[in-house]
Amino acid sequence: MTEERLEELLSQMTLKEKIGQLSQGQIYRPDCEKSVREGSIGSVIAGGRPMSNDLQRVAVEQSRLGIPLLVAYDVIHGYRTIFPIPLGQAAAWNPKLTEEAARIAAREAASEWIRWTYAPMVDIARDPRWGRIAEGSGEDTYLDSTLGAAMVRGFQGKNLSDPEHIAACVKHYAAYGAAEGGRDYNTVDMSERTLRDVYLPPFEACVNAGVATIMSAFDELNGVPSTGNPFLLRQVLRDEWKFKGVVISDADAVHELVLHGISANDKDAARVAFLAGVDVEMFTATYRSNLEALVAEDKVPMQVIDDSVRRVLRLKWELGLFEKPFARPNPDEVLLAKEHLDVAREFARQSLVLLKNENRTLPLWKEMPSIAVIGPLADNGADQLGTWRGHGDGKESRTALQAIREAISKNTHINYAVGVESCLSTNRSGFDEAVRAAKESAIAVMFVGESATQSGEAASRAYLSLSSAQLDLIKAVQATGTPLVIVLMAGRPLELGEVLDAAPAVLMAWDPGTMGGPAIADVLFGEYSPSGKLPISWPRTIGQVPIYYNHKSTGRPWVDPLRLPSATRHVYLSGYNDMVATPRFPFGYGLSYTQFEYSNIRVDPQHIKLGESARVTARITNVGNRAGDEVVQLYIRDLVASISRPVRELKGFQRITLEQGKSQDVEFVLPSDALAFHNGEMKRVTEPGRYRVWVSSDSASGQPAEFDIE
Ligand code: BGC
Repeated sequence: MTEERLEELLSQMTLKEKIGQLSQGQIYRPDCEKSVREGSIGSVIAGGRPMSNDLQRVAVEQSRLGIPLLVAYDVIHGYRTIFPIPLGQAAAWNPKLTEEAARIAAREAASEWIRWTYAPMVDIARDPRWGRIAEGSGEDTYLDSTLGAAMVRGFQGKNLSDPEHIAACVKHYAAYGAAEGGRDYNTVDMSERTLRDVYLPPFEACVNAGVATIMSAFDELNGVPSTGNPFLLRQVLRDEWKFKGVVISDADAVHELVLHGISANDKDAARVAFLAGVDVEMFTATYRSNLEALVAEDKVPMQVIDDSVRRVLRLKWELGLFEKPFARPNPDEVLLAKEHLDVAREFARQSLVLLKNENRTLPLWKEMPSIAVIGPLADNGADQLGTWRGHGDGKESRTALQAIREAISKNTHINYAVGVESCLSTNRSGFDEAVRAAKESAIAVMFVGESATQSGEAASRAYLSLSSAQLDLIKAVQATGTPLVIVLMAGRPLELGEVLDAAPAVLMAWDPGTMGGPAIADVLFGEYSPSGKLPISWPRTIGQVPIYYNHKSTGRPWVDPLRLPSATRHVYLSGYNDMVATPRFPFGYGLSYTQFEYSNIRVDPQHIKLGESARVTARITNVGNRAGDEVVQLYIRDLVASISRPVRELKGFQRITLEQGKSQDVEFVLPSDALAFHNGEMKRVTEPGRYRVWVSSDSASGQPAEFDIE
């Protein structure tokens, strides 16, 4: 197809057919087939069962102009082979694996006729009460931007017309993760500077990576809902970033302009959203019911309709749908292919974060005489898939119990007891059996956390603790005196006070996906040394939320009073009187079975000019007694600026593998542009001055070095 052919097609379309291309239907609606045939929807969102090509046949062979249908689905962290939830993926700090997992997800989804996914979600999230924190890469702009762009590359490949690839959709534009109080869909009020410095860059990174589509969010931003927000959708997205792709609303979000109190009725909502820049409406039918009349009344110019339709047709064309509407990979060869499961296992291993490991409790010995495996998540194939499981099936998951059975020696006896049936159950009748299992074993490994439904959309929580039944179960098992290892599976960090006291070893497994079990067993038995690092600050208590590492200094920066000489101790600091101000575990934190030492941090040259780059190097040495991976992190601080700057900001990271006793010099190139922020005139600038840098293993440690920009 050529631009000429596209124009020719456009000229043949009735206004109704044009509006059809701007309207998305749902596969499970009874009128779906009819709507496709009459051209009143141009795309559909697929459902829980695999698609067939029947609807495509209707579109291509029975609709007046034969325009192919585009099938969308939320392929978020896998399609049939499910990878760790995005927050878990982020804990691996491995853009290559992120890209690879997205490539696999695309391939599997495309084999069942899906050519458009609503991912990546790049909403910065600083509040774990918000359930959708599970769906993104956490709190940091740099990490989120890097991984979002990697996902776009993985889903879309080099050429969208390759039938193994699908169009990505970066979401939810914008600032949806900053919902007040962590309540989903809630209001966002933030300065344009914070928006531009913290929340928008991951979207821009995805646009620069060539993302085909973008989704407007549910939230209202500074009084204007994102789905009717011309500043976001026209000024920033089209004029500043030059985005050429399709904008789709989030589900129902056009109609919700009425509920926001921005439009009096659906007709006005259609006008507001469309003129603001939403090309396609998802779920609701306000475009279908009203755009024709709005054009007739001169409230919506025909040329704006044509521009939106062009974008949709071009996307279908780029996906190769006009030429080969039925092309797809062979599902028998791709769904749950061994290569896919191997990547899922590797990704899950790298995503596991060892939070605590006193007295080298882990790794466990495979020859142990007996191991108790306890808890609602030890053998729960469905919950380990987490939120948005695509077409993943819990029955196809490899659970931790299964994997532990396979990993241990023949002589080791497993005492399995669920304890409580599910993370949400209050029934304690299984406690006795669990206690017996622990008493009869040399070690107890407990799998506790959140069920899959406790995180994700509309799954905000006001409490971040484990359920009281799980807490009681932990106490009961602890009381047996059998040493305890806790494996957490959850879509967010949880408040861990008593849990950390109860167990010498705690491993955060997120929702690790189809191959979560073997990945956990690999770490428990030392086949793999844990290397995941937190993509989010882990609060001690919910009262500290929101808590994030790249906060501002304030005029009274908090310092742990115990670290000050008593004469200078005072309480007039930015913190709490009943709780330290630091998180329980800082952003970037994660233990290993080996230890890494950081030395020789240097910046070269120590004075650079605007437009130049500084090289920051450090030597990392594996001083422990086995090989392992380390995620080396680069942080900076702009010491004096016209606008106060965060106390630290991540500007780079590298995952390296080091043999025991070996060293590696790690080098980061830091261009002055990477230090830019929005100044008083809202211009993105790097200011001359002094900068501090750290190369460290988390956001709270490391020896600093400094350099100047002249
Ligand atoms: C969610 C989106 C999702 C869409 C389609 C909405 O409720 O907010 O993230 O892509 O549904 O399933």
